[in-house]
Amino acid sequence: MTDAATDDGAALGRGDVALVTGSTDGIGAETARNLAETGATVLVHGRDRAKGERLAASLSGDDHRFYAADFAEPAAIRDLADAVCADFDRLDALVNNAGTFQSERHLVDLPGSDAGVELTFAVNHLAPFLLTNLLADRLAATGERRASDAPERERDPARVVTVSSDLHRGTELDLDGVRGPDGPTGMDAYGHSKLANVLFTAELARRLPDGVVANCCHPGVSPTTGLTRDSSRFMGIAWKLYGVVGGALGRTDSAAESAETPTYLARSPAVAGVSGEYFDDREPVTPGDGATDRDAQRRLWRASAEWVAIGEEEEVGAERAQRA
Ligand SMILES: NC(=O)c1ccc[n+]([C@@H]2O[C@H](COP(=O)([O-])OP(=O)(O)OC[C@H]3O[C@@H](n4cnc5c(N)ncnc54)[C@H](OP(=O)(O)O)[C@@H]3O)[C@@H](O)[C@H]2O)c1
Repeated sequence: MTDAATDDGAALGRGDVALVTGSTDGIGAETARNLAETGATVLVHGRDRAKGERLAASLSGDDHRFYAADFAEPAAIRDLADAVCADFDRLDALVNNAGTFQSERHLVDLPGSDAGVELTFAVNHLAPFLLTNLLADRLAATGERRASDAPERERDPARVVTVSSDLHRGTELDLDGVRGPDGPTGMDAYGHSKLANVLFTAELARRLPDGVVANCCHPGVSPTTGLTRDSSRFMGIAWKLYGVVGGALGRTDSAAESAETPTYLARSPAVAGVSGEYFDDREPVTPGDGATDRDAQRRLWRASAEWVAIGEEEEVGAERAQRA
């Protein structure tokens, strides 16, 4: 890990637990490494069991574990949340990092939407939406414990970090476009899913109780990762080529460099009191216009809750949302 991610100490440590989704590879794997270096137990997640178990075994410290769940399947996300809650009585940080880029339009069946929902949106937004809601009580209880177990941690809450992208800029919420066979694909669908990450974070921050904060970020540009692994061959080659050219021109980041801001948000005491913000290079910045629209934040939350069929008792902060 670079000095940039460590220079202000760590709010995580031995005995703490952090779940990093999509940590079998790329930015998530580097983030998992950084969080494990604090002594915390890291829960590695992805679909590729062999890769995930190898990564968990390679992290510094012990008790790290791998959990498999396909984020295109809401039932698998529910199983993941249940397993984490059964295995650990605390959750100090949840890093929503898993993401996909799809060239073609594929639909996912969801319990609350008969039209089917576009896969990029389902994996990049609906999955972290559902997972965060299901784990919110555990995060909140951990936030309380952190304050009472160690008074110096009073302002050191549990954290939710969602990895978005600057490609959300220039897009606006389009809930019709994510349903059914017709609608945006490729970069447009990806940018829209990353807009949803920012809208979600703003609404989540209003709904979370004291003791839990939520922020999101642009991690950087790292064409060396496997982000296009499930897209077309053409897109895969273009992404790699961009990596070579961008790397030679010094315009891209390594996966380790791109893990710095998610790491910072998950473990730095400097951002313990910050919630609902969009970060770039460890600084809060104003996100795109489409992400600051309060009505869009609410509409996205309502549609997401309906489509993943989350129960009222499972939904975080419904009362707080009405007051805010
Ligand atoms: N790379 C960039 O330049 C860049 C820029 C801005 C934002 N981001 C964001 O950064 C995050 C990490 O991306 P990355 O570039 O590091 O890509 P990556 O190397 O492909 O990593 C993506 C991770 O997500 C997991 N994943 C993908 N589809 C999944 C699914 N259906 N269910 C469960 N897990 C799934 C993958 O694990 P398995 O294959 O094991 O499932 C992998 O661990 C993403 O949210 C991406 O949108 C990346």
